[in-house]
Amino acid sequence: MIKFKDNFYFGSASSATQSEGAWNIDGKGQNIWDYWFETESFRFHNNIGPYETSTFYKNYKEDIKLLKETGHNSFRFSISWSRLLPNGFGEINSKAIDFYNNVIDELLANKIEPFINLFHFDMPMCMQNIGGWENREVVNHYASFAKICFEHFGDRVKRWFTFNEPIVHVECGYLLGYHYPYKVDPKAAVQVGYHTALANALAIKNYRELNGDGKIGIVLNLSPCYPRSENKWDLKASFIADLFANRSFLDPAVKGYFPTELIEIIKEHDLMPEYTESDLNIISENTVDYLGVNYYQPRRVAARASLPNPEAPFMPEYYYDYYIMPGRKINPHRGWEIFEKGVYDIAINIRDNYGNIEWLITENGMGVEGEEKFLVDGIIQDDYRIDFYKNHLKWLHKGIEEGSNCIGYHVWTFIDNWSWLNSYKNRYGLVSLDLSNQKRTIKKSGRWFKELSEKKGF
Ligand code: BG6
Repeated sequence: MIKFKDNFYFGSASSATQSEGAWNIDGKGQNIWDYWFETESFRFHNNIGPYETSTFYKNYKEDIKLLKETGHNSFRFSISWSRLLPNGFGEINSKAIDFYNNVIDELLANKIEPFINLFHFDMPMCMQNIGGWENREVVNHYASFAKICFEHFGDRVKRWFTFNEPIVHVECGYLLGYHYPYKVDPKAAVQVGYHTALANALAIKNYRELNGDGKIGIVLNLSPCYPRSENKWDLKASFIADLFANRSFLDPAVKGYFPTELIEIIKEHDLMPEYTESDLNIISENTVDYLGVNYYQPRRVAARASLPNPEAPFMPEYYYDYYIMPGRKINPHRGWEIFEKGVYDIAINIRDNYGNIEWLITENGMGVEGEEKFLVDGIIQDDYRIDFYKNHLKWLHKGIEEGSNCIGYHVWTFIDNWSWLNSYKNRYGLVSLDLSNQKRTIKKSGRWFKELSEKKGF
C-alpha cells in the first residue's frame, strides 16, 4: 500500500475568477477578465465568460459540504483583489470581507484548513489601466492589498500564497497574446516578471512585519525540462528552457536571487528591467517559507534546428525547440503529455537544490473535453482520472520516501470550473457541474478521493 503521513494534506485548489461568479455585484470592481470578456467575448471558448462560473460566491456553503464529502482536509482558494479593493487600493469593500470571513469560518467549522492565494491572474482593471505589473506603483498597491488580507484573515488562516503560476501572466500577457493585455513585448515581459518577484517579496515582508504566525509561500508551475538526448546542444537547450520556465521565479523565491545565467541572457538581448538595489535587497531578504508546485506535464526540449528570425521579437525559444518524444503517454482529451515521474523529479530537485524546503503539490489534474460521454446513470465514471492521480501519487510517495519534504497533494480541481480562454471546455473536477442548472454531482473520482484521504493512501 502507498501510505502518506496522518497529517498529509489532501485537497484541491480553485481561484476567485474561476469559481465565484457574482462578477459585478456587492461592490466588486472589474478585473481584466471581466473587462476583456465584455469587450472581446469571441476570444473565449464558446463565448462563455467569467459571469456566473460555478457560483461559489452564492453557493459556498453547499460547496464546502461537497468538499467534506469528497474528503478534503484542506482547500486553496484565492481572494479577488478587485472584490476586496474595488479601486485597487484605498476603500475596503466590507461585503468582500464578510464573504471571505464566512468562507474561512465555514471551512474551519468543517475541519478543512484554508490555504489562501492572493493573485491568480486577476489584475484589477483600474490597476491594469495604470500599467499593471509594468508599473512599480502597482507592486506597492499589491503589497498593501496583501497586508489588508493578512490583517483581516491572518488570525485564522495559517497558510498563504502570494501568487499562482506567476510565469503565466508574464508569458501569456506579454509574450504570447493569450491573456490581457495581450502584448508581445519582451522588454515589458521582463519588467513584469521582475516586478512580480518583487511583489512576492514585499508581501512576504509585510506578513513577517505583522508577526504572522503561519507560513507564506508561492505557487509555481514547475514543469521539469527533459533534453531530447544527452548531446551537449540538447543539454544546453534544456538548461536554458529551465532557466526561463522554472528558475526565473524559483530561484528568487527560495534563494533570494535570479540565476546569473538568466541575467546574462537578458543583458545580451538588451532586455534588462528597471530596478533598484534596495528592491533587490528586498527580494534577497524575503524568501518563502514553503512552496506550492503545480504539475501537469513535462517540458521536452531539443536544440534549435533553425536560426531564429532576427526580425521577430525575442522569445525564450530563441534557444530551443519543443520536442515530441515518440511513445509518450498522452491525455487524448486535452492533448497534454502524461509523465508521472515528473513529480518525483521535482521532489528530488527541491530536496537537492533548494534546501529541501517544505512543499506540496498545489495542482495536478486531468482535463477532459466532452466529459459527458463518460456519464453512466448520472455519474461521470472517470476511472482515467483515478489512474492519473494514483500514478502521480506513487511517484510522489517515492520522492517522500527518499527524503523530500512534501506535505500534501492538492488536485485541480474540486468542481468543474471556468478556465480563462478555455471556459468550460476542459473539465477537471472531482464534482461535475451541469451548466444549465448549476447542479453538482460527485464523480467517481470524488468518491475515490474521499477514500484516499481517509486511508491516507491506497
Ligand atoms: C493551471 C491554472 O495552470 O491550469 C488554472 O492554475 C487552470 O487556473 C488550469 O484552470 C487548467 O487549465 P486549462 O486551460 O486546461 O483549463
